[in-house]
Amino acid sequence: MKIIRAKDYNGMSRMAAHIISAQIITKPDSVLGLATGSTPIGTYEQLIHWYQKGDLDFSKVTSINLDEYKGLSPDNDQSYHYFMYHNFFKHINIDLNNTYLPNGLEKDSEKACEDYNHIIQKSGGVDLQLLGLGLNGHIGFNEPGAIFEKETHLVKLTQSTIDANSRFFECLEDVPKEAYTVGIKTIMQAKKIIILVNGENKADIIKEALFGPITPLVPASVLQLHHDVIVIGDESALSKIPQ
Ligand code: F6R
Repeated sequence: MKIIRAKDYNGMSRMAAHIISAQIITKPDSVLGLATGSTPIGTYEQLIHWYQKGDLDFSKVTSINLDEYKGLSPDNDQSYHYFMYHNFFKHINIDLNNTYLPNGLEKDSEKACEDYNHIIQKSGGVDLQLLGLGLNGHIGFNEPGAIFEKETHLVKLTQSTIDANSRFFECLEDVPKEAYTVGIKTIMQAKKIIILVNGENKADIIKEALFGPITPLVPASVLQLHHDVIVIGDESALSKIPQ
């Protein structure tokens, strides 16, 4: 595991974008595992900037997102479909037919999960997985207690995650209580993983995830077992990790 310290959020975002760029340049038909949330927005902005300068070509890239709320349609401005389109896809030349997120509108949860697992298998697997970190140690929506062996599945979000995500909704009641998420088994099958952390409020949980016991109670701790993980954090998030 490599830990890269960035000065601030911009530095973190640019380092992540450099690694993703190198991935696309060396393998133009890469399968990227992507995340939503506040953390990767700067990375997407940097990639868009380099695309606009003519330095990057996404035409052969496939993207597979980690998760989607159950019950939200792609045009709901709180859905992750909407987030990805507006924060990233519409600004680059990725073929939208090659961008995937779980189908939040599929009521048959088993079917939604099977379909998504099939898409991941058909893609040949994720080359580079980008992750954020939940305040409770979740990755994707694999909440504390998540079984490490799971592929895509339906989860009930914990109160901590519902509270954290409520900042994007008009009121707490509007935050969906369930989501489809890629499982830890699938995340661990990615060839390379980058996990991004910024801000003081992530300092305790990133320390626990990287140096504490490997336990489903801290889902991100499983990353200690992956052979190619790069942690990129700003100074505040990495402040409790010794140099
Ligand atoms: C989003 C996702 C989540 C977030 C995590 C951190 O697709 O899978 O695990 O990465 O909740 O969210 P932010 O970046 O908003 O702190």
